[in-house]
Amino acid sequence: MTDTTFTPRVFSGIKPSGGLQLGNYLGAIKRFVGMQGEMEALYCVVDLHAITVWQDPVELAHGTREVAAGYLAAGLDPTKSILFNQSRVSAHAELGWIFNCVARVGWMNRMTQFKDKAGSNAEKVSLGLYAYPSLMAADILLYHATHVPVGDDQKQHVELTRDIAAKFNHDYGVDFFPLTEPVIGTHAARVMNLRDGTKKMSKSGESDMERINMRDTADQIAKKFRKARTDPEPLPEAVESLKDRPEARNLVEIYASLSDTTPEAVIAEHGGAGWGTFKPALADLAVAKLAPISDEMTRLMDDPAEIDRILAEGADRAAALAAPILQRTYEIVGLRG
Ligand code: TYM
Repeated sequence: MTDTTFTPRVFSGIKPSGGLQLGNYLGAIKRFVGMQGEMEALYCVVDLHAITVWQDPVELAHGTREVAAGYLAAGLDPTKSILFNQSRVSAHAELGWIFNCVARVGWMNRMTQFKDKAGSNAEKVSLGLYAYPSLMAADILLYHATHVPVGDDQKQHVELTRDIAAKFNHDYGVDFFPLTEPVIGTHAARVMNLRDGTKKMSKSGESDMERINMRDTADQIAKKFRKARTDPEPLPEAVESLKDRPEARNLVEIYASLSDTTPEAVIAEHGGAGWGTFKPALADLAVAKLAPISDEMTRLMDDPAEIDRILAEGADRAAALAAPILQRTYEIVGLRG
């Protein structure tokens, strides 16, 4: 392996905690599928990240298979992409430790997601939650991944990954780790909460009405969009007029992303429409796109052994890619040299 040539390679991951929601689909999974075949890709279910907050062991194992089922049902093909769960490849934890010794506490203190999650309880959260971004850097750099498709909320973590790579390279006088690019979508990169357009949609939000879950029924989806908060104005005739209307903009972006078009095209078609027309159209579209995925997830979840087989096979392939990179890292650091 030469230290300076980096073959284009994609890595991304999703935590198996609390089920998949529409933001995971539009900000991540749908784009993973879109990138499939463009370059070698690894898509991981990051179960070690999930335990940074308490997880019931039985639910965690179920959630891991469910995210894997979501990947498969949305169109990721295990013969084209490497699909696996993180804990099966111990090199993630090993490189994570080395990066804990490269990353600086001051960098971690700037992570907005940690501040949001820890809130006023920062003394009580796990040490793992604090160190989480350096494990994420290890996930990416263990494969010398050059491209990381993520939603906007993960951008800061990918930037930190670049800082860790640059510091490692500098401290050891090598050009070993690539400076990875976050690949953020142009639309729906931050799908917002349906009850408050200033907060992002997340699986941990307080009320289920805030989010569309991948496993919601058609009735639940219709109800959630019908009750989604909006302002009283109809849809504008020009996209620029959505600027100060976060809830309206969010619904237009969701529509655009689900229908593979742009907010401009949605406004061209629906500009001037009232919510009584637009919300049912959005619900119909969401059901048409999500129901086949959800049905396929249900079918796949009936055969957990097959999901485990796919994850184990992916893990073997991932481990084979990771081994020489971890070995070389150890040598550079003076361990096992
Ligand atoms: P996680 O599990 O919170 O989310 C998984 C992916 O879904 C995206 N996402 C969203 N995108 C748009 N709008 C939303 N409302 C929304 N909510 C979630 C996230 O941006 C992400 O792309 N730390 C990561 C997991 C991770 C990872 C990695 C990702 C661990 N190691 C290495 C990439 C590369 C996380 O907690 O994502």
